[in-house]
Amino acid sequence: MSELVRVEVDGGIATLRLDRPPMNALNAEVQGALAAAAAEVGERRDVSAVIVYGGEKVFAAGADIKEMEGMSYTDMADHSVTLQDFTRALARIPKPTVAAITGYALGGGCEVALACDFRVAAKNAKLGQPEILLGIIPGAGGTQRLARLVGPARAKDLIFSGRFVSADEALAIGLVDEVVEAEDVYAAARRRVEPYVGGPAYALRAAKEAVDRGLEADLETGLEIERMLFASLFATKDRATGMRSFVENGPGKAAFEGA
Ligand code: CAA
Repeated sequence: MSELVRVEVDGGIATLRLDRPPMNALNAEVQGALAAAAAEVGERRDVSAVIVYGGEKVFAAGADIKEMEGMSYTDMADHSVTLQDFTRALARIPKPTVAAITGYALGGGCEVALACDFRVAAKNAKLGQPEILLGIIPGAGGTQRLARLVGPARAKDLIFSGRFVSADEALAIGLVDEVVEAEDVYAAARRRVEPYVGGPAYALRAAKEAVDRGLEADLETGLEIERMLFASLFATKDRATGMRSFVENGPGKAAFEGA
């Protein structure tokens, strides 16, 4: 495991802590480490939810431009697969995920945040896809996930211009879900996913998969994904527990096992 991405598990919540000062630029090592960390926390039974955090000052200022500067077309034709894979690995974590954003979340940094289920931002956060200013476009999922989250016109505005968005504007356009004081970002991200610790893990997993896979498909295919996942939950202990608890004690009191 790379020193540049630490996995810290506390109280059922894993934090993937980016640690590459000064800007957490996402070089190939960080990209690989994030993909490995995503696979690890996705499988671990002691992890119910995940926070991606870049520390108190900065989330991540994007892919490492200094590393990319010398790359040829064929270099990037090969590496661009990995570039998409690491954000895909984050997006596919089968548990609730949240990005805790302080300072800059730009380019690949914004794309990491887009690969999470939720985004909590500090008042001082600046988000954007400034790749156009380098003569390129987002390459770690930004053109697709940003457009799906905020709509095509807003995504094009951000991607065509490369402009930075303040936390308040990000909240207004749905790019982030919550804005808090900088020192409260990590705690707010924990508060957001804490309710899922001790939850019905396979139902949460199915809910995430149904929404995400369904958004990638036409309505009929999405409904079929939902139908199959819905029926599959009748194989879980938590389904039996949840319904028995309702019948015996009323709503919202079930003690789930995550099984
Ligand atoms: N890659 C490599 N190094 C970076 C970097 C990046 N993405 N972002 C910042 N740095 C480096 C700077 O070069 C500088 O290094 P030195 O001290 O060695 O000169 C150091 O971090 C501090 O940066 P600044 O001096 O520029 O700090 P600032 O406070 O004046 O500005 C900033 C901060 C606005 C984030 C500015 O650094 C910036 O615009 N960074 C680039 C943002 C960007 O274009 N991101 C997209 C990258 S491409 C991409 O991500 C492709 C993709 O889709 C995957």
